Amino acid sequence: MKATAVAPSNIAFIKYWGVKDPEIRLPTNGSISMNLSGLLTSTTVEFDQKLKKDMVIIDDRENQDEAGRVSLHLDRIRKLAKIETRAKVVSKNNFPTSTGLSSSASGFAALTVAASNAASQLSKAAGLELSEKELSILSRLGSGSACRSIPDGFVEWKEGDSSETSYAVSLYSPDYWDIVDIVAIVSNEKKEVSSSEGQKLAQTSPFFLTRLNGIDEKIKLCKKYLKEKNFAAFGELIEVEALELHSIYLTSVPPLIYLRPQTLRIMQEVKKWREAGLPVYFTLNTGQDLHIICQKSDQAKTQELLDQIPEVKQIIINHPSKGAWLTTEHLF
Ligand code: PMV
Repeated sequence: MKATAVAPSNIAFIKYWGVKDPEIRLPTNGSISMNLSGLLTSTTVEFDQKLKKDMVIIDDRENQDEAGRVSLHLDRIRKLAKIETRAKVVSKNNFPTSTGLSSSASGFAALTVAASNAASQLSKAAGLELSEKELSILSRLGSGSACRSIPDGFVEWKEGDSSETSYAVSLYSPDYWDIVDIVAIVSNEKKEVSSSEGQKLAQTSPFFLTRLNGIDEKIKLCKKYLKEKNFAAFGELIEVEALELHSIYLTSVPPLIYLRPQTLRIMQEVKKWREAGLPVYFTLNTGQDLHIICQKSDQAKTQELLDQIPEVKQIIINHPSKGAWLTTEHLF
């Protein structure tokens, strides 16, 4: 009755920002990402007849704030498995949560895989063997970007026009391209507004429609540069995309200001390094920390340069990772 899954967080190269239907997290556009080997969530789920309500422990603390959202997600899985049993959920991240490193992506992907596996062991409804597509759809309902942490490596989330048609697929396996994502943590400050809440504000930005009009072309170009392994064109595209995302944040009503002086400082450094001949680019999500993208051959040099910036508190090295997987290393 117990199952454990590990899931990677992912970095979006073309971002998911804006929802057509917030209830089912149906995005206004498709997105492209890479799973991250260094940002992992492990989650153990056990359905237990003795429990009166779900118990949720995240990073060694009983977490009331997240318990509601986790229970709602467990309800989706209980419904599929035709069971009512409550569950104990223990989850651990190997990185700081709620600072913009997409812990909800790895968190909901791990929860979906662990809970659906544990539920299928208990279920009288035989065959709750979910396909990768079904796991991706289910993860999306918990947190949009979580659907991209299910397939392997480099991933595309198809926008879709219904719940059944909005899910992620692998474009390339993790060993396709040895690019590196060095996360530069500048602060452990929690986000004031979560991505889920921010998503609902996207359409209040006067620039949102302009963004949407250009997004299909961007997705096309991103896939083309991935296919060609054209690192310079790819890097330029993803950096412009991240800045565009933040221009939507800044012009939403009310505005979402995630950039910190430290974030801007590193952005300027990256630009200088590039001008000096080092091909590195940045991207970032809903938060202040940066993802510095480089090729494996430039990793050591990039790390060395980042080490010299006092604003960088910690770095986390990521290679492309496979999607969520089951393990027997239970957390309780
Ligand atoms: O899945 P959410 O609601 O946490 O939103 C993710 C939003 C971004 O990280 C900014 C973009 C993305 O596609 O991951």
